[in-house]
Amino acid sequence: MSDQYILAIETSCDESSAAVVSFDRQIKSNVVLSQDLIHAPFGGVVPELASRQHLKTILPVVEEALHRAEVELKNIEAFAVTQGPGLIGSLLVGVCFAKSLAYYYRRPLIGIDHLRAHIESVFLSHPDIPFPSLALIVSGGHTSLFYLPERLTYRLLGRTRDDAAGEALDKVAKFLGLGYPGGPIIERLAEDGSAGVFAFAIPRMKDNSLDFSFSGLKTAALRFIRENQITASHPQLKDFLASFEAALVDSLLFNLSQALSIYQAEAILLCGGVARNRRLRAYFLRLGQEMGVKAYLPLPEYCTDNAAMVGALAAEIIRLNKPLASPLNLDAYARFSPYQEQIES
Ligand code: KG4
Ligand code: ZN
Repeated sequence: MSDQYILAIETSCDESSAAVVSFDRQIKSNVVLSQDLIHAPFGGVVPELASRQHLKTILPVVEEALHRAEVELKNIEAFAVTQGPGLIGSLLVGVCFAKSLAYYYRRPLIGIDHLRAHIESVFLSHPDIPFPSLALIVSGGHTSLFYLPERLTYRLLGRTRDDAAGEALDKVAKFLGLGYPGGPIIERLAEDGSAGVFAFAIPRMKDNSLDFSFSGLKTAALRFIRENQITASHPQLKDFLASFEAALVDSLLFNLSQALSIYQAEAILLCGGVARNRRLRAYFLRLGQEMGVKAYLPLPEYCTDNAAMVGALAAEIIRLNKPLASPLNLDAYARFSPYQEQIES
């Protein structure tokens, strides 16, 4: 095992995370401190509270990651940090912290795109995924589909035009007063429900693009709730949530199957916080079987935001001798990566 280490930092949304990853991709530690309790009373992430909380927790989280890995800061060979997309105030906490360390210790600093880091989480347990492949990222802030012709090459095929899939789950849970984050709560309740009871129309793009849209599904859900007076104690709550979750899964996988019929792919990958969802995981694996392609999932703990995937991507960038940014030039970005702005046609 390599004794050269990367310290990776992730603060793009509402998890403060730090990981120590060796150059040969062994995860020595991965500390994730969730802010769920802080945002739960509001039913969603409050950006200003998130960045202030990162300021409080970044130092102890980094110290804990070093402690668990039994590595000292002076022995870290490179630093890596999530640059974006995400909440800009939250990102800046991680970027400034990592930049200061890299500057002080005169080590390289590798800026990591959050969506690419999510894709990397799949490679943590499946290092030999064949190419070309298609990667679907489904999280609270993003729903995007990428074509991967080879390692570390990413072409955006489609993304959501409105809400992200996880955001739709979180908003419906908030509306019903079920708690935050909504995805895992809906999953637990939907498990005992019947998905066929409420008929949701599956959104389709009229222009044949591979973009996603979840605002229509969310609005339909809110309409069902009002019309049927569904509450947290309604006898059909579980059927309603199962139907909604199944419609969301169908919509996600419809785009993936469309992409598979257009692009020659050897494999499909699923990642992001919503990829923890058991219904989505099962249907995704079934789609792979039906379409005759290999289907790969990350371990559940690497689906939601974490610094291990950031460190693993940095290790791959180092291994392939990609150019590294100077610690002083690195900047954060809230929305689109400067590396891949536009959807390719
Ligand atoms: O990737 P992530 O940690 O953060 C972003 O980059 O956005 O994803 C968080 C999202 C939230 O919307 C949460 O409700 C959803 O992932 N989520 C789930 C599950 N666990 C987390 N959604 C469905 N089923 C789950 N088990
Ligand atoms: Zn994420």
